Amino acid sequence: MSMGIPEITLNDGLTIPVIGLGTYKLKGNKGVNSILSAIDIGYRLIDSAYNYENEGTVGEAVRRSSIRREELKITSKLPGRYQNYDNAVTTIQESLYRANLDYYDVYLIHWPNPKQDTYVEAWQALIDAKKWGLIRSIGVCNFLPEHIERLEKETGVKPSMNQIELHPYFNQESQRRWHEKHQIITESWSPLARANEVLENDILKQIAEQHNKSISQVILRWHFQLGAISIPKSASFERQLENISIFDFSLNETEMSLISGLTRPDGRINNQDPATYEEF
Ligand SMILES: NC(=O)c1ccc[n+]([C@@H]2O[C@H](COP(=O)([O-])OP(=O)(O)OC[C@H]3O[C@@H](n4cnc5c(N)ncnc54)[C@H](OP(=O)(O)O)[C@@H]3O)[C@@H](O)[C@H]2O)c1
Repeated sequence: MSMGIPEITLNDGLTIPVIGLGTYKLKGNKGVNSILSAIDIGYRLIDSAYNYENEGTVGEAVRRSSIRREELKITSKLPGRYQNYDNAVTTIQESLYRANLDYYDVYLIHWPNPKQDTYVEAWQALIDAKKWGLIRSIGVCNFLPEHIERLEKETGVKPSMNQIELHPYFNQESQRRWHEKHQIITESWSPLARANEVLENDILKQIAEQHNKSISQVILRWHFQLGAISIPKSASFERQLENISIFDFSLNETEMSLISGLTRPDGRINNQDPATYEEF
């Protein structure tokens, strides 16, 4: 436990908190201050990516923070354009230089980009970087079961986690069950659906009122009870605190299914289906 945030252990033995801070768009001095406020109130897991161009911001917050490096879990991600083996190795090194860190706790392949067909060599680079001590735990984002099966078949190593789009409008039920069966932790990106109209939903409003909590807190509690790590992004101290204050109530089975029932086939925020969507 760190300041009341429970932790879970990944299939490779690394233990990480069940809620982390998303950092998309947190950059520069304002970004450093937002990350520092999150660390102050108890966040220990920080998500970033090479493509967010904020690994430097995250590294600066780590250095300015009074919390020891070993107590923080820092994540970054390999972009699609650098998936071939040699590029992947130098990109991991570049990610570390940018953050001025000796190692990342978690490093993920950002998108499978299946048409490009280089995610297996990218995976081999992550496996090697872990052996060299540059990364403690390796995983993927946005991988479908067929992509993960290929990784395992061709390298013998399976990811510790898969970070996927997951929120009440897109509950990822079958993908989550598949992860559970294969001891892979699900991590939810855009866990609040980017605070879109979901935060006005009547069903969520009623559940929130019942528990005297906010809709965001109900959604984040739902992620926790699903067994998924969530990484809500907030620049504000008040909302950061709100987002981790979810361990003093619980949703019953009916409430859990009402929330899961909000899902819809076209519920993705930007229609990014990993089977076809590519990001570089
Ligand atoms: N692997 C991938 O492909 C991928 C894709 C997308 C995102 N991600 C990661 O996932 C993280 C989270 O996703 P996200 O940033 O897209 O969306 P999100 O966390 O669902 O939502 C962030 C938005 O919600 C607002 N917000 C946060 N807490 C709130 C609260 N309690 N009440 C009302 N509004 C609140 C934030 O505004 P304020 O900042 O003003 O509070 C921000 O506008 C990202 O930051 C990134 O690290 C990964």
